Amino acid sequence: MRETATAQPNIALIKYWGKRDTELNLPAVGSISITLSDLFTSMTVEFEDNLEQDELHLNNEQNDKLLPRLSHAIDIAAGGDRPRARISSECNFPIAAGLASSASSFAAVVVAASAAMGIERSVGELANLAGRASGSAARSLYGGFVELENSGDAVVVSELLPADAWPLDVVVAVTETGPKPVGSTEAMEISRRTSPFYERWVGDQADDLASARNAIAARDFAALASVAEHNCLKMHSVMWSSRPPIVYWNDATLACLQTIRQLQSDGVDVFFTIDAGPQVKAVCDTADTDTVETALRATDGVRDILRSGLGEGARLR
Ligand code: DP6
Repeated sequence: MRETATAQPNIALIKYWGKRDTELNLPAVGSISITLSDLFTSMTVEFEDNLEQDELHLNNEQNDKLLPRLSHAIDIAAGGDRPRARISSECNFPIAAGLASSASSFAAVVVAASAAMGIERSVGELANLAGRASGSAARSLYGGFVELENSGDAVVVSELLPADAWPLDVVVAVTETGPKPVGSTEAMEISRRTSPFYERWVGDQADDLASARNAIAARDFAALASVAEHNCLKMHSVMWSSRPPIVYWNDATLACLQTIRQLQSDGVDVFFTIDAGPQVKAVCDTADTDTVETALRATDGVRDILRSGLGEGARLR
């Protein structure tokens, strides 16, 4: 009744923003991501008959804030009539600041809870369950380059390319360490209801997915950079044009984009992507990682740098 799983966050290159079914948490668009190797979340789930309610310890401290969503994820994996669970989690990077901590947490908790209940499930089934807890979590079940297809009542997630087939690095410029003002679940609903660009965003996604899929198959860095930056800026345009507007960026976010533009014009293979937070993720060729890190560290407002390669999917430890 006790199991531990580890999962790494993933960074979307073609973004998920908007749901077509809030009840089942089904995304309105497909997405493509890369799973990281050096940032991790580990989750231990222990079911206990005598426990009155679920408990969560995060990095050895009791945490009631994240407990409701994690309890819900365990209900999804183990059923609502399950015994209560003692959950303990370790995470080696800041939580809830747009660094995809929820993706790795929900992926890991679904794997650990299924195993602790003694239920054997395929990776595809686990990805679907994790996706019901949090859309982006479905992708952290797989390693390397991952596509989530939006079809029917379930999501179909698959590996496009393993991590070692095209080694890239991600340099994260942390520009703020606190939690974000509005979570992505709520923010994407505001966008769906109010942004005049939302329909167009959903309608154009298939083209971006196809371009990214082709670029990944051909290991064409320039083509992947072009479609990933375009897709990211379109998602943020949908956010900015929502009512109320959803603006996650700060001065340093924009300064980092300028740094990356300068690196690109100096011939460095790097591109940016930004999620529901102010951090900038620079994806680069592994030969250029030090150059990218040095430039981002010297950028005004950057508080910290995290580095990671590409890694594997969620698994039991
Ligand atoms: C901007 O997966 O956190 O990171 O399904 O409501 O939990 P919920 O949303 P979540 O949204 C992620 C949004 C994003 C883009 C992405 O990861 O594709």
